[in-house]
Amino acid sequence: MHKPMSQPSPCPTIIEINEVAPRDGLQIEARFVPTEEKIRWIDALSSTGLRRIEATSFTSPKAIPNLRDAADVVTGIQRRKGVDITVLVPNVKGTERALACQVDEINLVMSASNSHGLANLRMTPEQSLEQFAVILDVSKDSGVFINASLSTAFGCPFEGDVPEARVLELVEKLIGLGIQGVTLCDTTGMANPAQVKSLCEAVLERWPDTPFTLHFHNTRGMGLANALAAWQAGIIRFDASLGGLGGCPFAPGQRAMCTEDLVHMFEAMGVDTGVDLDALLEVAATLPDLIGHDVPGQVVKAGKSTRRYAMPVRES
Ligand code: COA
Repeated sequence: MHKPMSQPSPCPTIIEINEVAPRDGLQIEARFVPTEEKIRWIDALSSTGLRRIEATSFTSPKAIPNLRDAADVVTGIQRRKGVDITVLVPNVKGTERALACQVDEINLVMSASNSHGLANLRMTPEQSLEQFAVILDVSKDSGVFINASLSTAFGCPFEGDVPEARVLELVEKLIGLGIQGVTLCDTTGMANPAQVKSLCEAVLERWPDTPFTLHFHNTRGMGLANALAAWQAGIIRFDASLGGLGGCPFAPGQRAMCTEDLVHMFEAMGVDTGVDLDALLEVAATLPDLIGHDVPGQVVKAGKSTRRYAMPVRES
């Protein structure tokens, strides 16, 4: 076992993982994974110590046909104590469908940039905020936690830079509306660690009581470095996707932030993720069969860093 590295304050000693593969991963797959297989897979995931699972999205079935069985999935899975079930929702109709399934959390989605908002949701950021105001009203007596994911918070695949000041302005509007938690998303893997440090420090300083989650992609190989930068800034909540499966439909070559690689890194550093890594790796090993192709996750192939090999025998 490695000696945990010393952590300069404010690096947290415990982090929480929100597993997003059933939503972020499956949404862009070529093949529809049958509902019963999704349910079996999510049930296996929920026994590994993950704190939260984004089980599906209540979006338009025309926009995301792979998740057209959202209600059957959410009502079919086992609900385990300590594992919150969250779902991605873009509008009021999705909120009503999600509330009917007794979800624990609704994760609203909007973009920080106009063009990504229009391409993905047919809404500008301001139009999304108008929807959110109605959604908060519709859900106010439900007791369901309302989070909002801000896509393209670190850059837009169409417009390029999204200024930090614009992101902070939108976060302020979200919190002003009554949104309880905010996820900052690097939707297409454009973020770098210096940028992550700056934005994370800015939001934690201005809104110390708001739970912020960071959602990274590994499209350009910067996922783990970005997660480390966020953690060093004090972030404790991370989205990640089993096997590194999935991503935004608008960027070729997408790679998600791989859950088991993220858990492996933090556990090796002595940070408690709450996840049973061996159990998670077992579920990760079933992914290629579930979706019909290889996935980018590395630890499932290489084994943990504690793995040891037999010395080669030399012929003398
Ligand atoms: N759930 C189910 N159906 C929905 C829906 C929802 N949340 N929202 C809209 N619809 C249906 C409408 O009832 C309508 O159906 P009809 O054609 O049978 O009458 C149809 O979708 C179009 O509705 P409209 O309100 O005009 O939506 P739109 O076509 O402008 O699409 C979104 C807007 C947001 C619903 C759609 O773009 C979407 O679901 N996007 C999801 C994108 C996503 O998840 N991207 C990846 C993750 S970031």
